[in-house]
Amino acid sequence: MNQRVQKAVIPAAGLGTRFLPASKASPKEMLPLVDKPAIQYVVEEAVRAGIRDILVITGRGKRNIEDHFDRSFELEHYLETKGKEEELKEMRAIADMADIHYLRQGDPKGLGHAVAVARQHVGNEPFVVMLGDDIMDERSQVLEEMLSVYEHYGRSVVALKEFPPSEISHYGCVEPEAADDGLIRIRDIVEKPAPDEAPSNLAVMGRYVFTPQIFDALEQVKPGKGGEIQLTDAIRILIEDQTVYGFTFEKGRYDVGNKLDYLRATVELALEREDIGPEFRAFLTDLVQREKLV
Ligand code: UTP
Repeated sequence: MNQRVQKAVIPAAGLGTRFLPASKASPKEMLPLVDKPAIQYVVEEAVRAGIRDILVITGRGKRNIEDHFDRSFELEHYLETKGKEEELKEMRAIADMADIHYLRQGDPKGLGHAVAVARQHVGNEPFVVMLGDDIMDERSQVLEEMLSVYEHYGRSVVALKEFPPSEISHYGCVEPEAADDGLIRIRDIVEKPAPDEAPSNLAVMGRYVFTPQIFDALEQVKPGKGGEIQLTDAIRILIEDQTVYGFTFEKGRYDVGNKLDYLRATVELALEREDIGPEFRAFLTDLVQREKLV
């Protein structure tokens, strides 16, 4: 059995240009999905998988991420005096959920660069990288299963999902090879390939388990697509040295990386909610009829 993974890194220092103007003065990671900021879904997912040491990579204008996961004595006092017990419990739980650390990236030179900033904190241990563009359903076991793969094989694992050729160029894409246990061994990986150059229909999703050797690989990476230090390029270097597995899943992911997908995710998540779901469903049904959408 290999070392248990105890740390997660959440890169949140990007400029979020696809969400302007909302992301101008507040981080896109704080955009709410129904009533919870995107990054809270990600932290909760890590905690469900047994990870409590979480490092968030932040940058300028990202301070309210820290405030969100901190205690708010003024708010707590207010809720207490108003007898709002439920809300008070919820606010305290957010602050107590995990040990959250923060490091600044300085200049947002790409996802790979953001992960490299985590080296000092992570040390010589395996760790998880989780991107806030992908929100997982509460019932999803993807991260737990990826961690089991790591514990069994002691090698890095990347989450993959099938996409039609028209959409593959939004993502990193892998050249796969069948491996044991229904896993995939990644032979090669390319960042946002043109549809006719994609090596497969398997796209990289924002969940990774890495051996610490990814940091050595990141040191070798030169600026790639868009002048950024790409995580994809570091994985490519890692593959030359160690097997990197792909873990394919189908369901339970909400894409919140751009405006349209964010709207879709908000609607789906709202429909799933016990408190507002039924009423929201009735509203949507009425809207579809009124607007003659079908
Ligand atoms: P994205 O490319 O989706 O995020 O990076 P972005 O650059 O913020 O957004 P757009 O494309 O301009 O709209 C994936 C993740 O990596 C983080 C982002 O915060 C996001 O969660 N990231 C990206 C960093 O932490 N640092 C960077 O330099 C770049």
